[in-house]
Amino acid sequence: MNNFILAIDEGTTGIQASFFSMNDFSMYGNNKIEFPQIYPRSGLVEHNPNDIWETTLAAIKNAIELTQKSNHEFSINRISAIGITNQRETCLAWNKNTGEIAGNAIVWQDRRTAEFCDSLKNNEIMRKMILRKTGLVCDPYFSASKMRWMIEQYPKAKQWAVAGELALGTVDCYVTWKLTGGQSFVTDHTNACRTMLYNLHLGQYDPELLEVFSIPTHTLPEIKPSMGRFGITKNISCLPDGIPITGILGDQQAALFGQNCVNPGEAKITFGTGAFLLMNTGENIVEADNGLLATVAYSTSQKRVFALEGSAFVAGAAVQFLRDNFGWVKNSAESAELAMSYPRDEEVLFVPSLAGLGAPYWNPQAKGVLFGMTRGTQKSQIIRAVLESIAMQNVQLLRLMEKISKQKIVRVGVDGGASRNDFLMQIQSDILQTTLVRPTNIETTSLGAARAAYVGILEEDVGFIKSEIGKEFEPHMPEALANANLYRWLKAVDCINNFYSSDK
Ligand code: G3P
Repeated sequence: MNNFILAIDEGTTGIQASFFSMNDFSMYGNNKIEFPQIYPRSGLVEHNPNDIWETTLAAIKNAIELTQKSNHEFSINRISAIGITNQRETCLAWNKNTGEIAGNAIVWQDRRTAEFCDSLKNNEIMRKMILRKTGLVCDPYFSASKMRWMIEQYPKAKQWAVAGELALGTVDCYVTWKLTGGQSFVTDHTNACRTMLYNLHLGQYDPELLEVFSIPTHTLPEIKPSMGRFGITKNISCLPDGIPITGILGDQQAALFGQNCVNPGEAKITFGTGAFLLMNTGENIVEADNGLLATVAYSTSQKRVFALEGSAFVAGAAVQFLRDNFGWVKNSAESAELAMSYPRDEEVLFVPSLAGLGAPYWNPQAKGVLFGMTRGTQKSQIIRAVLESIAMQNVQLLRLMEKISKQKIVRVGVDGGASRNDFLMQIQSDILQTTLVRPTNIETTSLGAARAAYVGILEEDVGFIKSEIGKEFEPHMPEALANANLYRWLKAVDCINNFYSSDK
């Protein structure tokens, strides 16, 4: 008889629950429920922790009902384990004894601590210390400055910190705490390493960083291997007691794992609103001082595996921009059709810095720019340039990863909504000059969480679960042409970065 793993994906805008059969990892009952995004002021983004928890329960209930309908072998007594994956860096504060919440969760996109982070970053010794220890650039994106803010600004958090009752955690930690009826106050290395309080070399919280951000150690969860025992369910209305949580991975790391990128040089690109790129660098920490991040890819009880990460703020959002602001396309498929209708040209270039520039520039002031227009410029030409720009920025990041890791990228898995756009995938493969692999199931984040939970039950090493390949994209463009196109685009993006840097 078959058993199942419950995968819960705690995303930024929605929570998804699904079941994976332990026989062949086919997915059942997948459903996503969106929950409110709270924007108190420009630059601030919050989530209500109760919304996160209620939506999690609703998604689990739906997944159970849907799976009962589609797989007669399924029952809630056949759930062997739970895997959790989550939006990273978002953090919240609650009372360990009573479960009371101190205030809203502060989301990774929130910029309220920019001034404090700038003050640290402008001190070169501090900037370098943070980079060396954490692998991260000093930015409000990460949890530490948000946690500091919560202790200072949420009166209850301050009071509980003094009384030794405060819990500060990322979303994986909170959901695990809730699922275990308040028994387990834990996180994993992939989430801990995004707090900016974690020493990447030592694999634990760093006293100097705790001091910089004024975070008492007792407020933070225990850090455990991503695959192993995190606790068991207790008092959850829709689940029996005693189901073990055996996998926790930050969502980008879960996608890397779900793409089976368990060897050095294997990389993945998730095409969501933005693009998140991770490349496995094995058991080596590659220190980057070029705007890329060093991060934990996953950990078992025996080892920690690392990755380099780069993110571009705009990917699928560029197509939404064409759709919502100009009505030029109805969807991604139409953007591909129109782009294809225009023969390849080297005139029009787009720099998609519609929300600033992400890695490697980290320039929040940058704006999007179209280059090379003439009286003859066509709409389809611009659409093509927009799609090409999504691919170009990914190539820039992957090339930088190759350069600093001295490791050739051997395989690139693609996932996320915009990975369904064949035209975009072909350009991506052409410019990258590497084969792209798109799995049949592009829900690789949930799959990664389920696989992590599976490994966590067996406590065996990873790398034995095969992904089903949906489609491969081989480069067709001659290498010299691909490099020339990339060179022109890099010139354009450098120019935009400089233009907006002098404007700061
Ligand atoms: O670092 C933020 C990232 O984990 C968010 O992912 O998919 O929820 O937007 P997503």
